[in-house]
Amino acid sequence: MKLMKRIRTSAKVIFMLPVVSALIVLTAFTISRLTPQEDLKSKYAYKDFEPAKKCRSCHPGLYEQWSQAMMSQAYTHHWDEIEYFDLAVGHSNAKPEIKNVVDGCNGCHAPLAFMGGKEFPPPRPEAKSMANESVSCEVCHLTQAAQTDPPFNFSYLIKPGMTKFALRTPAVESPAHKIVTNDFFRTTEFCGNCHNEKNPFGVWVKSTQLEWKEGPYSKEGVRCQDCHMPKGGPFLNALMTKPYDDSRLHLFHGAHDPGKVRGTIELRIQPDIREAEPGETIVFTVALFNQKTGHKFPTGSVEDRIAWLQVEATDAKGKVYHLNVDKKGFDGEEYTISGDYLAYQDMGLPLGLSDFKGVQRDGIPAGNRIFRMPYFDPEGRMTIMQWNTAKQGVDYRIGPRETKVEKLTFRLPFDVPPGEMKVRAVLNYQLLVKPVADFLKVPADESEIKVVNEHSTTVQILP
Ligand code: HEC
Ligand code: HEC
Ligand code: HEC
Ligand code: HEC
Ligand code: HEC
Repeated sequence: MKLMKRIRTSAKVIFMLPVVSALIVLTAFTISRLTPQEDLKSKYAYKDFEPAKKCRSCHPGLYEQWSQAMMSQAYTHHWDEIEYFDLAVGHSNAKPEIKNVVDGCNGCHAPLAFMGGKEFPPPRPEAKSMANESVSCEVCHLTQAAQTDPPFNFSYLIKPGMTKFALRTPAVESPAHKIVTNDFFRTTEFCGNCHNEKNPFGVWVKSTQLEWKEGPYSKEGVRCQDCHMPKGGPFLNALMTKPYDDSRLHLFHGAHDPGKVRGTIELRIQPDIREAEPGETIVFTVALFNQKTGHKFPTGSVEDRIAWLQVEATDAKGKVYHLNVDKKGFDGEEYTISGDYLAYQDMGLPLGLSDFKGVQRDGIPAGNRIFRMPYFDPEGRMTIMQWNTAKQGVDYRIGPRETKVEKLTFRLPFDVPPGEMKVRAVLNYQLLVKPVADFLKVPADESEIKVVNEHSTTVQILP
């Protein structure tokens, strides 16, 4: 009898197992992929959300840090306003079928306007509407999960209210809100909700979290938060509580912080021979090592960004020679060596310029190696309009802990004076290619040249 029962139970268990596991697989699958993303567009009202100024009254330190970060200006920053209103909204006026995509810019840049506003585009920054809150305290601390796997295109799950989420169980109760701990804040998927973006052509036009995931830092458990929200204590995260030694500073410093960019890549240059006669050939080797980023460099708004290697030799009499990088011969290499080309013609349509010839592609001296990934519009021309990108070209960015090696062959002129020749290699960086910035009248700080790193070497020119 006992035996029978045991057999029956185990039979039941055995019978149930596939069902249970199928159920588990199914639920996991449903949660991660099949759930239609809850559409949060205009789902709530502005009054459902609290402004960051309110959080400031008790969290002044964190507020001041955040207010200096780009995420507090994601809607109001000059280049964002220009690209959104002049190019994106302009483009959807000319092509109404992309209106939904352009409304979606706000899903990441002005989430409160996206979820709480009824009209798109939201009011301009000068109107000081809730759109100006940009990526505010509310946006992050109301986030419960990602609705897709991988996370992308504002896949956050947000419900407004007095319950805010974070990692720590607070030492004191806040009179302003309830805190529920949520492990999602520990993950990089939390950032990936906005730092991965797939456009209507199915192209990953932003993939910072995906780059991180396939790189070395994910294996070591070094997350976005560890580099962009470093622990810095003792720090008073709220007025009524005690200072914590491991408080997460809300610095979010990135490409707009010259100090964060400086030193990201280390470089060294060396000649193959130390002494040479006029007319002889010297080959310089430059090694560029990415020691600092957890993703590729550049990442994020890759369509806008360039980093380039410039090498110049100065002879004993002070004459300067520009050295061209040696071609390696890979597919698409022409987009990684600066030259005299026109590009970005697709800006003509949104701007209402018929037969627009484009502007200079690179805007830097010719013959330099550029570390970039080109984006192409449906007609195969280079574009900075990521939503209009049908294809990406060669990915010649520098991966996390990757070293790129470049060679420059220099044939000494016959009239080069004897003495010491100094050769300097510089890695420069620009947030936005200058010809585009100038054409769209984007204030100069967005196209300023930032030096990432430099190194010099010498050779002796024999008489
Ligand atoms: C009346 C004061 C007050 C206001 C206003 C306030 N908070 Fe707080 N908050 C606190 C206190 C006190 C704590 C507990 C701090 C602790 O011990 O960690 C806290 C904790 C938090 C935490 C959890 C931190 C942790 O320990 O992990 C988050 C997140 C948070 N607040 C977000 C917000 C946001 C977002 C706003 C604005 C919408 C806001 N707070 C407004 C007082 C306030
Ligand atoms: C090991 C440290 C490290 C990790 C981990 C890391 N970053 Fe960065 N990040 C940097 C550095 C250094 C820079 C500055 C250089 C640059 O612009 O790429 C940067 C820059 C950025 C930028 C600005 C890029 C641009 O061109 O505007 C963004 C956005 C960013 N990180 C997001 C993330 C996200 C999201 C994650 C996690 C998926 C992450 N970072 C992980 C170090 C890190
Ligand atoms: C881009 C998303 C983001 C924004 C914007 C943001 N936070 Fe946070 N915040 C986080 C994350 C993630 C953590 C937890 C980090 C960890 O502990 O690993 C955190 C932690 C906190 C903590 C606990 C800090 C500690 O470790 O002691 C407080 C308090 C807090 N946030 C309040 C705020 C306030 C107030 C604002 C607006 C001024 C704000 N946050 C804006 C993502 C954000
Ligand atoms: C709700 C969407 C959203 C979330 C969530 C989010 N970000 Fe951002 N982040 C943005 C947007 C939009 C920008 C671009 C700001 C601008 O317009 O320059 C940005 C910019 C940045 C920058 C670039 C700053 C610079 O100087 O160029 C860094 C670094 C960054 N985010 C880090 C993070 C990290 C780390 C997390 C996760 C803890 C995170 N973000 C979560 C939307 C988001
Ligand atoms: C999936 C989220 C997401 C969507 C959708 C999105 N962006 Fe962004 N955007 C970001 C993030 C994150 C950054 C920061 C990347 C970086 O730092 O390199 C950014 C950066 C930018 C920048 C560069 C900011 C700077 O100062 O360098 C501009 C301009 C911009 N976005 C405009 C737009 C426009 C216009 C649209 C709609 C066509 C759009 N974005 C859609 C997330 C998004």
